[in-house]
Amino acid sequence: MPKCEEYKGKVVLAYSGGLDTSVAIAWLKDQGYDVVTFTADVGQSVNLEVAKDKALKTGACNAYVMDLTSEFVSDFVWPALKANAMYQGTYPLNSALSRPLIAKYLAWIAKEENAVAVAHGCTGKGQDQVRFEVCAKANHPDLKVIAPVRDWHFSRDAEIAYAAEHGIPVPAEGSGVYSIDENLWGRSIECGILENPWNEPPSDAFTLTKDPWDTPDTPLYLEVTFEKGIPVALDGETLDGPTLIKKLNKIAGDYGVGRIDMLEDRLVGFKSREVYECPGAHVLISAHKALETLTLSKDVLQGKVAMEQQYAKMTYEANWFSPYKEALDVFFDHVNQYVNGVVRLRLYKGQAVVVGVKSPNALYKEDLATYSEGDAFDHDAAVGFIKIWGLPVVTWRQEHPADLGALQLLPGMKVSAEETVPLNNAVGGK
Ligand code: ARG
Repeated sequence: MPKCEEYKGKVVLAYSGGLDTSVAIAWLKDQGYDVVTFTADVGQSVNLEVAKDKALKTGACNAYVMDLTSEFVSDFVWPALKANAMYQGTYPLNSALSRPLIAKYLAWIAKEENAVAVAHGCTGKGQDQVRFEVCAKANHPDLKVIAPVRDWHFSRDAEIAYAAEHGIPVPAEGSGVYSIDENLWGRSIECGILENPWNEPPSDAFTLTKDPWDTPDTPLYLEVTFEKGIPVALDGETLDGPTLIKKLNKIAGDYGVGRIDMLEDRLVGFKSREVYECPGAHVLISAHKALETLTLSKDVLQGKVAMEQQYAKMTYEANWFSPYKEALDVFFDHVNQYVNGVVRLRLYKGQAVVVGVKSPNALYKEDLATYSEGDAFDHDAAVGFIKIWGLPVVTWRQEHPADLGALQLLPGMKVSAEETVPLNNAVGGK
């Protein structure tokens, strides 16, 4: 391992192993820093040892690699699921959820290493820069942040030349046409041909989901069991969080479920065409919402729609560690204690449809709802209920009578048993 030599001090760099963050190691060293890298496993199927090796070979003086999958699921993904968090009602926030976790560990390593700053490889156009910086500072308010890619103003060619000079391997021409970010909750795909929203995302943009026309011709039925709003089993098999999501990504992905294509309103002011594939997230959010309709009261269900949107917005907009978001977590934890039961889904040609729900905490009572034998609903009580329920409207109308004079009869409408309105004398006639 190369020896740390303090110049301006140490910087902890969030390191993915890709070209930008590898060039960032060399660039930060050229600026007089020693570089410690940090690579987090949040389920993105990278080889952490390879990333570590590459960091050290590229000149890092120390390289942390950490498997944060369990914490990602328990402290970020499950709270977001309890809130049905989807930005613009569509994006399950897979990338946005990993940033506060990575930032928290960046801040922690910076303390451990007595570093003067942390660094990330984001450009100046995205929201990941905002998330890394706000979330790192929320955990370590004195921390300085350096953003090499935002600062260096390299063209792509200049970056490649700089990489070559510093012995950093450059990806083959044509590879990396998309900008990708992946974790257990899904995969984000941006750039290239996708920048024109008229272009349909090509098949090669996707790796977690099959094209719906290449999926099995018979449906698959699947059962998800929830305890306190959290999925705990698939088809009756109890699984830990990361394993459950991984398994579900494969099952639902094979049925083409979970592709998202949207125009996203970025925090930094412009609209961006975003493509995602989130097979597990799609199934779990649909199933969770369905189970909530069975187990939560009408008022809670109606009231929390606005809170879900607020939760998603705060997650998207770098406010994961804000007091408001924490307060909403308390609310969602509270209401989710009753979200227990099993949801049955049918997966077929790109769709996951909820076809059954059951719960020990069901508020649906068949004897109240049935139109058949065993009806327990008090029909007679409806008379008094309607009288009182309608009282405000009727009182209002007594004071301000409705104008029925303008009502027009339509052709064929009966005015008495014998008489119908003739066709040529109907609408508009007196
Ligand atoms: N638009 C998404 C978001 O802001 C995805 C970001 C993906 N990040 C990336 N570096 N490719 O949450």
